[in-house]
Amino acid sequence: MSPSQVDESVTMTEEAPTFAPCLPVPNVQEMVRKNPLQVPKRYERSEEEMEKENYKSHLSSEIPIIDFSLLSDGSKEELLKLDTALKEWGFFQVVNHGIKTELMQRMKELTAEFFGLPVEEKNKYAMPPDDIQGYGHTSVVSDEQILDWCDQLIFLVYPTKFRKLQFWPETPEGFKDMIEAYSSEIKRVGEELISSLSVILGLQKDELLGLHNEVLQGLRVNYYPPCSTPEQVWGLSPHSDASTISVVMQDDDVSGLEIRYKGSWVPVTPVPDALVINVGDAIEIWSNGRYKSIEHRALTNQNKKRTSHVSFLFPRDDADIGPFDHMIDAENPRLYQTLKYGDYLRHTLNRKLEGKTQTDAAKIKE
Ligand code: OGA
Ligand code: NI
Repeated sequence: MSPSQVDESVTMTEEAPTFAPCLPVPNVQEMVRKNPLQVPKRYERSEEEMEKENYKSHLSSEIPIIDFSLLSDGSKEELLKLDTALKEWGFFQVVNHGIKTELMQRMKELTAEFFGLPVEEKNKYAMPPDDIQGYGHTSVVSDEQILDWCDQLIFLVYPTKFRKLQFWPETPEGFKDMIEAYSSEIKRVGEELISSLSVILGLQKDELLGLHNEVLQGLRVNYYPPCSTPEQVWGLSPHSDASTISVVMQDDDVSGLEIRYKGSWVPVTPVPDALVINVGDAIEIWSNGRYKSIEHRALTNQNKKRTSHVSFLFPRDDADIGPFDHMIDAENPRLYQTLKYGDYLRHTLNRKLEGKTQTDAAKIKE
């Protein structure tokens, strides 16, 4: 077996957790195909909400770029840049990560082919109502909730025992192997970045990774169909990620990802071949708020669809997440409770995406 081939023998579905249920939602792509001009009420944001969240900034080009190869060579200067990037933005783009352009392009092509299949074919991989893996949607918890303008395809990739290969598409040919090949590259890059974060957090290089042993890694492919009135909907509601870090591969030529920065929304303009990285709630809590998991959202476009591949790297379930002792002092009193990460993750996955509410819930009550 070549390293990029999926080993079918490792499926042990009885061990794989389901994490969280989600109410059934319409397939957005089908809705748009049948009636491109219609935006059902369940997707329409109130004017009040849109007004409040309409502050645009033009700073996108300033989101820091970090050179992965310097970082992995142990460059102090690059580590310092990373520290500044995280304090200032919580987001950065990483270049020279060693993932081949062809591999990234091929992953995008196969994803596009999958989403181009008839809905009956895609629904062979439909996400069950009690699970987060498969083709569907997550984070819908009430019938009154305004819905996001996207469809999702989600897999847990690592540890391999959590895989549910029945959700890994047989078509297009080679997609399954590519999910494996792409994710193993993201694992390599992600683990190196977690080692750098460990140093920045004042720990030994491999200490933070020890709290991830073995890293729980998920892949969420978000597919945002065009929307006739993009100013009325959100592709993905404002939220922060529960992860340690998230690694986003964006389309090269379509934007949509925005981050909250000093009271306005800053677009993360795609840099070809770069990966967008953000730190998640686990880092915010471990660092006692020194590094924040920044709120972000995705907007839709009027004429173009957009796809993003988001890999989440999570701590292990039984890791304690609470501020490290050395992050607390007289000037920085303890802000968060200590929780088992598994409980935090499940708590988050059982909610709708709603800004920073899940991290706020982990704060010590006054
Ligand atoms: C996510 C996310 C952003 C994007 O999936 O958590 O933030 O650009 N996605 O799709
Ligand atoms: Ni996110």
